[in-house]
Amino acid sequence: MGRLVIVSNRVPVPAKGGIAPAGGLAVALKVALEEQGGVWMGWSGKSSGEHEPRALAQLKQGNITYALTDLTDTDVEEYYHGFANRVLWPICHYRLDLAEYGRKEMAGYFRVNRFFAHRLAPLVKPDDVIWVHDYHLIPLAAELRQMGLKNRIGFFLHIPWPPADVLFTMPVHEEIMRGLSHYDVVGFQTDHDLENFAGCLRREGIGDELGAGRYSAYGRIFKGGTYAIGIETAAFAEFAKKASTNKTVKKTRESIGNRSLIIGVDRLDYSKGITQRIDAFERFILANPAQHGHVTYLQITPKSRSEVPEYEAMQRMVAEQAGRVNGALGAVDWVPIRYINRSIGRHILAGLYRLGKVGLVTPLRDGMNLVAKEYVAAQNPDDPGVLLLSRFAGAARNLNGALLVNPYDVEGTANAMARALSMPLEERKARWKTMMDHLLEHDVTRWCQDFLDDLTGMTGSAWLEPS
Ligand code: G6P
Repeated sequence: MGRLVIVSNRVPVPAKGGIAPAGGLAVALKVALEEQGGVWMGWSGKSSGEHEPRALAQLKQGNITYALTDLTDTDVEEYYHGFANRVLWPICHYRLDLAEYGRKEMAGYFRVNRFFAHRLAPLVKPDDVIWVHDYHLIPLAAELRQMGLKNRIGFFLHIPWPPADVLFTMPVHEEIMRGLSHYDVVGFQTDHDLENFAGCLRREGIGDELGAGRYSAYGRIFKGGTYAIGIETAAFAEFAKKASTNKTVKKTRESIGNRSLIIGVDRLDYSKGITQRIDAFERFILANPAQHGHVTYLQITPKSRSEVPEYEAMQRMVAEQAGRVNGALGAVDWVPIRYINRSIGRHILAGLYRLGKVGLVTPLRDGMNLVAKEYVAAQNPDDPGVLLLSRFAGAARNLNGALLVNPYDVEGTANAMARALSMPLEERKARWKTMMDHLLEHDVTRWCQDFLDDLTGMTGSAWLEPS
C-alpha cells in the first residue's frame, strides 16, 4: 500500500520536548502513521477571523507530515460548536433532549467538509490510503469522490452510533447515511453500534446487508465492521510504573496517607455521568459510616467545549455539586472529594491511576473509553485496583474483569464502590489479569492493523462502485 493519509478534526502536533499529547485518539493514530509514513491533516485549532484561511501549514516530523488549516470564526461556530458538538455529539450519545438543530449549522458542517476535501486532495497520491476519523468529518469521502478521487477511503467512528429512532430525529440523517456509504470501510467500536447502523440502513429501505460484513446503500457497496480501539498497553504499563516516582504523584500519595483513593478522569462532558457518579459517592459515604475519613475521591475533569452552552452549564453544576457534598460530609481533617477542573499531564495521570484502589469510569454512554483501559494497564500486578465500569461504555464489551454498573442506578453504583473497596486481593488479581491479558493482545497496533487490513485487503469489484 502507499502512504497513509489520516484526517481528523484535531491534529495533535507533538509538542517540543516530545511529551506525549493527551488523549487516546491522538496517541493511537500517531503510532500507525509513524509505522506507515504519511500525512495527518486537520484543523489547526485556530481561527482566521472572517478572512479566508491561509494555505495549509505543513510540518514534517520524521515519517509524518502534519498539514493544518485554520477555519474562519463562522466555520468554527457552525461546523464545530454548532453541528458536530450540538447535534451529532448529543444524538450519537442518545441525548435527543440536548440536540439543537439549525439549518445554518448544518450547512456550515457540510461546507467545512467540502473545504477540507479541497485542501486535502492536492496532497493525496493515487495509491495513498485515506483514513478519516470521527463524527466531524462524515461527509468528507463524498466530497473527495465528487472531486474524482478513487483511493481507498475508510472511516472510523470513535463515538457510539445510535438506533434509527434516535438518528432519524436529525433532519439531515439521510445525508449523513449517504455520506457514510461513500467509504470503503465504515468502522465502529462495538457490535451494538454496528447493529444500530445496520438498523438505520434497513429502516426506510436505505440499504441492505449483503453478508460477510458487506452492505449496500445509495448504489455503493462497502464493508461495515467492528474495531474496538485499544491503547499502547505495554508502553503505558511501563510509563505508569515509572510515574510512581514523579514528584506530584509522590506528593499526592503522601497527602492521601492511609486513605483509599478512588479516581475518576473525564473530560467535562454530560455523556460521562459525572453528576450521577458524585451522587453515588455521596450515597456510598452516607451508607458506610465506617468509611468516613478513610476514602478520598479524586475527580480530574479538564474543561471541554466551554463555548457550547450545555458544557458551560455543566461546569457550574459539577463544581457546585462537589462543593455541596464536601460541605455536607467533610470534616476539618477530611475533604471527601478532590475536584480538579483542568488537565493534568499524562505522566502524572498514569501514576495517579496506579495509586487508585478504584477506577471510576461510569459514562452514561461512551464509544469506548480509553481511561478504563489505561487505568487497568497502569495497575501494580501484585496489588491491582478495581475498575468500576459503566455497562454503557464500549469498553464494557472488552473488559470482562470489571465490576459493571448501571450509572443511572445511583444506589447500585454506591454498592459497587463498597464492594470494590473490600474486594479480596485474590479476586482483584484474577479480575485484573483477565483484563490485562485482553489489553495486551488487543492493543492499539492491533486495532490499526485490523482496520487497515480490511481497508487495503479488499479485492474484487464487489467493493467498487457498481457500474
Ligand atoms: C472525543 C472525540 C474526539 C475529540 C475528543 C475531544 O474523544 O471522539 O474526536 O477530539 O473527544 O473533544 P474536542 O472537541 O476537544 O476535540
